[in-house]
Amino acid sequence: MIRELTGADPLGMRIERMESPTRAWIAGKPVILMGSNNYLGLTFNPDSQAAAVQALSASGTGTTGSRAANGSYACHQGIEQQLAEFFGLRKAVLFTTGYQANVGFISAIVGKDDILLIDSDSHASIYDGCKLSDATIYRFRHNDPEDLARRIERLPPQANKLIVVEGIYSMLGDYAPLKELVAVAKRYGAYLMVDEAHSLGVLGPTGGGLAQHLGLVQDIDFIVGTFSKSVGTIGGFCVSNHEALDTVRFAARAYLFTASLPPSVVASASASLERIRTDPSLREKLWANTDYIYDGLRALGLQIGPNKTPVIGIAMPDAAACLRGWRTLLESGVYVNLALPPATPGNMALLRCSICAAHTREQLDTVLAAFKRVKAQLG
Ligand SMILES: Cc1ncc(COP(=O)(O)O)c(C=O)c1O
Repeated sequence: MIRELTGADPLGMRIERMESPTRAWIAGKPVILMGSNNYLGLTFNPDSQAAAVQALSASGTGTTGSRAANGSYACHQGIEQQLAEFFGLRKAVLFTTGYQANVGFISAIVGKDDILLIDSDSHASIYDGCKLSDATIYRFRHNDPEDLARRIERLPPQANKLIVVEGIYSMLGDYAPLKELVAVAKRYGAYLMVDEAHSLGVLGPTGGGLAQHLGLVQDIDFIVGTFSKSVGTIGGFCVSNHEALDTVRFAARAYLFTASLPPSVVASASASLERIRTDPSLREKLWANTDYIYDGLRALGLQIGPNKTPVIGIAMPDAAACLRGWRTLLESGVYVNLALPPATPGNMALLRCSICAAHTREQLDTVLAAFKRVKAQLG
């Protein structure tokens, strides 16, 4: 039976023109981009753009093959080396997207007799990787190391176990209690994987993410990340000290059976990673903007996540109110992400914002004024 889906794009939304990391045109009007995941504003980084143009001229528009066939160029190996050094770990494997990194890595690294323990608020790509694996899957309560410990205690001690969490969670912007999770993993001899999709570039002295921020990189077995957020382009990766990471190159279907990244994308990712590593001022601006908007939204009396991070999910009473609020924001020239079940934790209806280092104070004031209107509608 083939499912017929109608109204798959109910909002009919499209960005007509990009002007900068924080400004675009929608329906003939300028808008402030407030949900872009472009935390550092690097999509328009001149060095990254120049590197992409140069690689495009030198190597063409695409590789037309997978890493296992004709799609492994020197640039792919080069950025794997760069990623390993960036994190101070021995090995890195590059994927074509962050989604594929999670699906490919998780499905390949565990087998039939192994056990996966995943945080219940995990991203869809983590769930899909688990489903594709032959391992037994257990979910533990979101950000609850004690619940994780209780579940592990009941499992056969000799079985291989992989715990999977995220650094900053993508909908409510809350942090994983990584120190406590590392302690549980060590106590029970489990492996720990952290998806740093939303924390790469955002946290840590050189932008390595939550694990780096907490000085725990060497205690994490596998770090997964994406280039589609702070790095400002597309691509995914896994880094580790474990030799077992190489398994992925032979066993991950999401690595073997898809084309590798175009050299222009690799070149821009490489330049942006270098900027992230060497320019802490971007992170300082991002966190100053985060402080301003988080405090401003809270002062309006809106219901927001527990941790002050550049990911802010504003909880609305229901989907209809959320859609109304989203429209009010758009009419006020502010474009946020509409996040509705099943993509949200606890089936919440969220207006999901992400802050950018390149937002100006004036833009943030416009955003707060627009949210004031949303709040007034809620009564
Ligand atoms: C936590 C998390 N992991 C992985 C991904 C997938 O990243 P990509 O856009 O590179 O496929 C996302 C993207 O939304 C994410 O939020």
